[in-house]
Amino acid sequence: MTSLRNETSTEIRFPAGFRWGAATAAYQIEGAAAEGGRGPSIWDTFCRTPGKVLNGENGDIAVDHYHRFADDIALMADLGLTAYRFSISWPRVQPAGAGRANEEGLDFYRRLVDALLAAGIEPWPTLYHWDLPQPLEDAGGWPERETAHRFADYADLVHAALGDRVRNWTTVNEPWCAAFLGYASGEHAPGRIDPAGSLRAAHHLLLGHGLAVEAMRARTPDNGFGAAVNLYAVSPATGDPADVDAARRIDGLQNRLFLDPLLLGRYPEDVLADTGPYGFAPSDADLAVIGRPIDHLGINYYSRHTVAGTPGEAAQTASSPFSTQSPWVGSDHVRFVPAGRPVTGMGWEIDASGLHEILTRLRREYPSVPLYITENGAGYDEVLDESGTVRDAARIAYLDGHLRACHEAITEGVPLRGYFTWSLLDNFEWAWGYSKRFGLVHVDYATQRRVPKDSARWYAGVIGRGGLPGRGQRAGHGEGTGQP
Ligand code: FCB
Repeated sequence: MTSLRNETSTEIRFPAGFRWGAATAAYQIEGAAAEGGRGPSIWDTFCRTPGKVLNGENGDIAVDHYHRFADDIALMADLGLTAYRFSISWPRVQPAGAGRANEEGLDFYRRLVDALLAAGIEPWPTLYHWDLPQPLEDAGGWPERETAHRFADYADLVHAALGDRVRNWTTVNEPWCAAFLGYASGEHAPGRIDPAGSLRAAHHLLLGHGLAVEAMRARTPDNGFGAAVNLYAVSPATGDPADVDAARRIDGLQNRLFLDPLLLGRYPEDVLADTGPYGFAPSDADLAVIGRPIDHLGINYYSRHTVAGTPGEAAQTASSPFSTQSPWVGSDHVRFVPAGRPVTGMGWEIDASGLHEILTRLRREYPSVPLYITENGAGYDEVLDESGTVRDAARIAYLDGHLRACHEAITEGVPLRGYFTWSLLDNFEWAWGYSKRFGLVHVDYATQRRVPKDSARWYAGVIGRGGLPGRGQRAGHGEGTGQP
């Protein structure tokens, strides 16, 4: 038994100082696409390409956070958040992706950060959440090495402006998505189908991370720097060797391709072999930059992959309805199979035990680094009910189960220091447009009216208590995550 668990009340208490947050991203919430000197990003272009985003929607207005940030911070304060993860729009700061900073863009983030600090909420910015300035894509995008250097320059400009008041920085968000959905399957911006280029993109996103940390750390060695990766638990559908091999491959591309260079300074040999035909040959010098110690690792966790596959079978498996191409470069024979668990409105299987599995695996297989859950949440197609609110019991159950998984990992010695739920507000869900809602707070997109859902009140209670009530039995939405 550990000191984190109060046996008499069976309360699930998180350690003192645990950060309780919520997360958003610039393109998904800010709007004001043509204001403040902002230039176009690949998502502006992608949204305007017919057939790429459901209903042809875009982030031009989104939830108008650019103008409503003060109200949104008041909502955060009502929830009792102690930290807020947001992203900085590169094309607001550098409209052309290079050169001097657009001060009007930086000013928005100065105001945002100052208002957060005034509300007692720690700002936790991410420098790249997928909105590459379009001119950099026109010059070749992430498959080009130059983009990593441009990213480090941009990070340095932002850090020069905010480094005195922001303590913790995240460089890139989910490089897997940016590289493989952006450049292999084409279901995200910039929508290219170029498997060899997508591997280079993954490498340059990591290199950009390393170079950016180097530049920022030189200015404020005491700030904390890290990256946020999207990790999945991965299981073979059966014990058949072909399925076991499929699981190794998907774990390799999804998890180890990012964790190994960041935390061990090398790429996994088996993934290099699987992707051999695409000529992916990163240099040791780059790996030295990528593998420099970081201060924290952000984990975005949503679900588990269950996979099957016989190499040589016809390629298929797009990972969403938005592309027929596979994002799994070199392993596109792998099939993703339902394992029968309940799913969210995204169709993603709910499996909190997978989060526990990932957290304990990190402790076992990688050097110790403070961990944060930088995203975790559930999306549904929700409407306000007659009482004018959203009774989102399913989201509450999802968050509850995953927080219990986090707590269990902490009691086992995993250095998990904070949790940011995705998302504070309903917002623009990429290729799904506005059809999927992940917010604790409902947004009426016609009026921009914000209404906290039941989950917002529930999360405020969790934060206020510093944990969860004990429960005699599991909620039945994720195995192995309840009390031991
Ligand atoms: C993650 C993204 C985030 C959000 C959630 C649902 O992959 O980082 O922007 O869309 O999924």
